[in-house]
Amino acid sequence: MDKKKFYITTPIYYPSDKLHIGHTYCTVATDVMARYKRLQGYDVMFLTGVDEHGQKIQQKAEAKGVTPQQFVDEVVAGIKDLWKLMNISNDRFIRTTDDYHVESVQKIFKRLYEQGDIYKGTYKGKYCTPCESFWTETQLVDGKCPDCGREVIDAEEEAYFFRLSAYADRLVKYYEEHPDFLLPTSRLNEMVNNFIKPGLEDLCVSRTSFSWGIPVDFDPKHVVYVWVDALTNYITALGYENEKYNDFEKYWPADVHFVGKEIVRFHTIIWPAILMALDLPIPKRVFGHGWLLIDGGKMSKSFGNVVDPVILCRRYGVDALRYFLLREFPFGSDGSFTNEALINRINTDLANDLGNLVSRTVAMADKYFGGTLPEGREAEPVDDELLSMIKGLREKYEHEMESYAFQNALMEIFKIISRSNKYIDETAPWVLGKDPAKKDRLATVLYNLLEGIRVCAVLLTPFMPDTVVKIFDQIGASEEARGYETAAEFGVLPANVTVHRGETLFPRIDAKKELAELEAEEKAAKTPAAEEKKEEKEEIVLEPEIGIEDFGKVELRVAKILSCEKVPKAKKLYKIQLDDGMGGRQIVSGIAQYYTPEELIGKKIIVVANLKPAKLCGVESNGMLLAGNREDGSACVTFVDDSVPVGTRLH
Ligand code: ME8
Repeated sequence: MDKKKFYITTPIYYPSDKLHIGHTYCTVATDVMARYKRLQGYDVMFLTGVDEHGQKIQQKAEAKGVTPQQFVDEVVAGIKDLWKLMNISNDRFIRTTDDYHVESVQKIFKRLYEQGDIYKGTYKGKYCTPCESFWTETQLVDGKCPDCGREVIDAEEEAYFFRLSAYADRLVKYYEEHPDFLLPTSRLNEMVNNFIKPGLEDLCVSRTSFSWGIPVDFDPKHVVYVWVDALTNYITALGYENEKYNDFEKYWPADVHFVGKEIVRFHTIIWPAILMALDLPIPKRVFGHGWLLIDGGKMSKSFGNVVDPVILCRRYGVDALRYFLLREFPFGSDGSFTNEALINRINTDLANDLGNLVSRTVAMADKYFGGTLPEGREAEPVDDELLSMIKGLREKYEHEMESYAFQNALMEIFKIISRSNKYIDETAPWVLGKDPAKKDRLATVLYNLLEGIRVCAVLLTPFMPDTVVKIFDQIGASEEARGYETAAEFGVLPANVTVHRGETLFPRIDAKKELAELEAEEKAAKTPAAEEKKEEKEEIVLEPEIGIEDFGKVELRVAKILSCEKVPKAKKLYKIQLDDGMGGRQIVSGIAQYYTPEELIGKKIIVVANLKPAKLCGVESNGMLLAGNREDGSACVTFVDDSVPVGTRLH
């Protein structure tokens, strides 16, 4: 009989920035799910890859003085190395610059054009360059990009449009008939209320303002919009409209797309609509996971707060990091990453609970029986609770895994581990070991512990694939005793099992010392990046020249900061009152992460005094202060000597 199929994907990552622990989180979670399904006996297709086109990449390549292809080739090699390091078991890796993908996208675009789902028109709208997203006026937040909060620009160009509006009713019907299509379900309301109900507009799906993209073959001054290019990767990688692969029929529709919450709308509105237009089945599920935050903000290279998974793996091991990522944060919600939490988790769960249980059990079997248990048995009522917990574990685990509740699945396993440690205290094997009449009882206690460890190790396999092999070897588990089927059974190890003492699985970490060292290493690692930035700066391309009459239009004046307070619900913004020599004014500035109010009050600064008023997070700002960025990316306000009077105009 054919094996059951399971097709799972990560988003394809932008190679514009170095990947950080946030990207690693998503890929590790996908890997765990893929390994879990393989363990269950499924025929799994796990796809990941890179999303290489778009204006941002073209600009980065230009800044580096290389071609976009050279730029992406170099970064992609690094991404593949990272996945190798993280023990990611993807079956396929797609690059959107791969010939077969390009060919398929062109065919898909042409087909949609020929059948009338794509038409030619003129695009006028708001465009966020860093996010490569067009927005309608109503979607902007305070006039800015709702995803990244940056300025949008007015864009107008001849463009092709996809008739997204025609699919609104079918999408809503699809959601109603498939309530589990998008998880967590709370995200579905967001899609319907924020995007579909206000009215879906047709989607601009081509660009003429840059060239680094897949050309529309019948109108080559246009390149295909990156999201259409990117989303179709999930089917082109299976051979849809190309000869490279031929397992589209076998694996499509996908069982689940794992994606970060900010790209859920692309996956649950645009993607199903494209598939409907192509008359293809819709993926069974999209899971929108939360973000890893640092100090309350999303980890991102542009904010300079990224955590490098390579450093953490080298210090603590890949499995410890994989375990931490899925144990610490509920998959559907945001979570705050800290080094303290990582070290604590390793010490408590992995070194104290799991590592200790394995080493104590194996050491006792070694000490009292020379490594091989005798066959005699003597059960006691104190065993019952532990045994029934072990027997019931796989069912509970499976329930959690099927709901993508990785954290809960791990908690169920660790309940057995803690219970086993308590069982050692209750049964006191070191006392039994002194009494020759208790030999059978002692063997029973140790066997029960070994079986508990075995079942836990089987179920930990998707999370910590290398560690479990070490555990299986230590407890003497044969190949058969490592399979998923055996995790629902008790008594799989032979009665006369032989154990083998091995290395300590997770050495305990001296948290204080380690934190100091880790922080120093992370800081040092950021310095070369700062150097790189410096190099980039030397190649700065100036804006087009302006005459003195243009500069004369900008009024730069000296002002003194009188007061400064946080804007509610905006982590980065201060509301600042100024004495500007003209009766005073209020400005809003994004420097709250870098200065305390005390460091600002009383200081003199430069404001652009005739800038049009704007609202930032609902608070009016009348002008802006001048500031630059330090090498580490933090803001640095330009202060003026106190002897310059307020109101002075700068020329
Ligand atoms: O969005 N915490 O690529 P991307 C958790 N190319 N997840 C994070 C994260 C964080 N701090 N930072 C990023 C793209 N991610 C598109 C996808 S798919 C057809 C095209 C996650 O490299 C993010 O949520 O910007 C997203 O799911 C993934 O990394 C890729 O982000």
